[in-house]
Amino acid sequence: MAKKSGILYAISLKFSSFAIHLKSCIVKRTEIKYLLEQTDFGKDVNVKGWVRTKRASKNVAFIALNDGSTIKNMQLVVEMNPETEKILEHIHTGAALSVDGVLNESLGSGQKVEVHAKNIEVLGEANPEEYPLQPKKHSLEFLREKAHLRYRTNTFSAIARVRHAMIFAVHKFFNDRNFYNIHTPIITGSDAEGAGEMFQVTTLNLENIPKTETGKVDFKNDFFGKPANLTVSGQLEGELAALALSKIYTFGPTFRAENSNTTRHLAEFWMIEPEMAFYDLNDNMDLAEEMLKYVIRYALDNCMDDLQFLSKRQQEEDKNKKADERSPELVEKLQAVLTEPFVRLTYSEAIRILMNSKPNKKKRFQYVIEGWGADLQSEHERYLVEKHFKRPVILTDYPAGIKAFYMKQNEDGKTVRAMDVLFPQIGEIIGGSQREESYDKLYARIKELGIPESSMWWYLETRKFGSVPHSGFGLGFERLILFLTGMTNIRDVIPFPRTPQNLEF
Ligand code: 4AD
Ligand code: MG
Repeated sequence: MAKKSGILYAISLKFSSFAIHLKSCIVKRTEIKYLLEQTDFGKDVNVKGWVRTKRASKNVAFIALNDGSTIKNMQLVVEMNPETEKILEHIHTGAALSVDGVLNESLGSGQKVEVHAKNIEVLGEANPEEYPLQPKKHSLEFLREKAHLRYRTNTFSAIARVRHAMIFAVHKFFNDRNFYNIHTPIITGSDAEGAGEMFQVTTLNLENIPKTETGKVDFKNDFFGKPANLTVSGQLEGELAALALSKIYTFGPTFRAENSNTTRHLAEFWMIEPEMAFYDLNDNMDLAEEMLKYVIRYALDNCMDDLQFLSKRQQEEDKNKKADERSPELVEKLQAVLTEPFVRLTYSEAIRILMNSKPNKKKRFQYVIEGWGADLQSEHERYLVEKHFKRPVILTDYPAGIKAFYMKQNEDGKTVRAMDVLFPQIGEIIGGSQREESYDKLYARIKELGIPESSMWWYLETRKFGSVPHSGFGLGFERLILFLTGMTNIRDVIPFPRTPQNLEF
């Protein structure tokens, strides 16, 4: 095959005169996104990209070419003659082309401009017998198995562009507000969330693990001389920086070895964690709401073509669903979040609402709420957001027992200054809190939970020296992208998902 395509590189379509061919060869490539905006018809252009579809009739062939710069394709018009017929035989969905031609106004519907091909070079063939992506609808499950090629579909290229825009918007939001980006470590010796859901990092020979006299693993011989793992959160190190720089944020990969095969959990995901000195829980909530609204507005202002495509895709997907199971229209859903303030209420108030709710009374929740202290599942979070309040909700002051050790303890001795931001279709999108700034209280909590002081001494020291009230939160980046794209499985909003029993690509 490689040899065959080697020969094909030489196949190109030359027109009228050598001079014209030479001239068109030196025209620099224009990305389709920009070419589609141009109106100086008659000029020579060069486009490069991958074939989406080819339609040939007796006199003319149309090729839809996409280069990923936009969801829109460039229509190539190829006049049929013996030479072009020969080259068209090598052009199928997935093939890569470089095309010299003339920019023309398009008479067809659907696009304003098209390129009349003068010279086509097949850069890389795609054998239709083997190429898995055909110009028809493929299931998302099928495309997950073809993740190495799924960027070449409209859906996954749209998601990739939205994802990029959101990375940029997050950095812009924080930069414009005087936050410093901090790179926190990926390999750590501590468990920031205290949940024990960590991937171990080791260079020990697993076939022959060194043991101590008491039969335990002897980590002295391991790479770091002690147990190491991939980080579950950059927060603890983020706090160290905030207690000097005032306002920082991290945006890094995060790893959780929780064996939850859900549509909202990944083993490797990206988290944005701002941390602010002198912020209390109210300031923290204000910032979280402002940030979410900012990035959603940024998507509406900058990604409308992709959002409209994703909206149509979602409506297609929902066609066969019952009316009450259909998703709200994507763009309207995003706009709706911007219009009203998020609801803010305590966990205790939420429990009261849930206990009195129909699905709880009729035991329609999978996990029926029995009383105060229950951990909220996404079905409860979504009930509050989608059915009860019909807008995003921030819940605060959770029971200490279901939250991490570092959260500020309330006077009641039962609850902590936690906050979870709950979104429609998603449930928890942000988790955060005001932090415990008192050394004594934090130390007592660490002891109570049996967290080894040896892994936490440096964190504790910040409460000894110049401790101040401070707060922060973590936004799950893929959950944000789920919300923005209307996709329903988190495996589809990260290019190469890592989930239990799944490590391909
Ligand atoms: O609520 P979490 O566990 O909070 C923290 O890690 C804190 N250290 C954050 C902080 O205060 N700086 O995680 C924060 C967010 C969740 O709300 C969720 O959006 C996302 O991270 N998240 C996951 N996303 C995908 N897959 C998983 N397994 C996730 N676990 C959490
Ligand atoms: Mg959480």
